[in-house]
Amino acid sequence: MIEARQLSKRYGDMLAVDGVDFSLERGEVVGFLGPNGAGKTTTMRMLTGFLPPSEGTASIAGFDIFNDPIEARRCVGYLPESPPLYPEMSVKSYLSYVAKIKDVSRGERRQAVERSLERCGLVDVRNRVIGTLSKGYRQRVGLAQAIVHEPPVLILDEPTAGLDPLQIQEIRELIAELAAPAKGETQQTVILSTHILAEVEAICRRVILIHQGCKVVDAPLSELTAEGQSLEELFVRETMGRSSAREERA
Ligand SMILES: Nc1ncnc2c1ncn2[C@@H]1O[C@H](COP(=O)(O)OP(=O)(O)OP(=O)(O)O)[C@@H](O)[C@H]1O
Ligand SMILES: [Mg+2]
Repeated sequence: MIEARQLSKRYGDMLAVDGVDFSLERGEVVGFLGPNGAGKTTTMRMLTGFLPPSEGTASIAGFDIFNDPIEARRCVGYLPESPPLYPEMSVKSYLSYVAKIKDVSRGERRQAVERSLERCGLVDVRNRVIGTLSKGYRQRVGLAQAIVHEPPVLILDEPTAGLDPLQIQEIRELIAELAAPAKGETQQTVILSTHILAEVEAICRRVILIHQGCKVVDAPLSELTAEGQSLEELFVRETMGRSSAREERA
């Protein structure tokens, strides 16, 4: 469902992402970890077609981001670090607008919007203006716009950053539900970045850890924690002492 092949991104002299390879099957939920500045957001932006790679390529649901960019983007729901919400629009009209630009047909648009409102717990605020919502609710709107066209692939950049514990739990449940849906609904492939390791333990079955632009760990969560080792220990061991070196040099 997601294939990254030698993905690299260079900013001036700095190699922000350095030959990252991975392949995700349908229905996999992967925690994408790494210290600040490791290259997570840069990698996700390349996968979603927002940022051209310096080298390498990727494909989404079999569509290459270079050769079939429109198809590839249609198959992705993306929650960026700071979602580009329109503060003066109502929640419902914004979602309807996103559905339209994601090519949801006119006849299906209303239902798609209703569904994403429901799934993200936004029914009661559907007519509110986005700019007046709390941060947590704006984050939910960000998630709703990522899923409104029911893409097979979800790329979520720190989906629970800044939320209260209750909302974190709700968003986690929603993500888990998207990956293991009720009968008759399609399973989604999810890659999510986070600094909350408990979140990875709660919802992800696989972990990819990047450090200074390179993939350093890619394994099932069960394997990584098999000998009583915590993810925190793994994270520290794999990134220790070097995490901010690049940022300091920059
Ligand atoms: N537009 C840009 N121009 C120059 N350097 C950039 C740009 N965007 C990102 N970088 C650099 O690329 C590196 C990777 O950044 P990125 O945002 O991908 O990290 P991240 O893993 O998402 O970090 P965080 O956990 O803080 O969100 C950093 O050193 C960052 O300063
Ligand atoms: Mg980031």
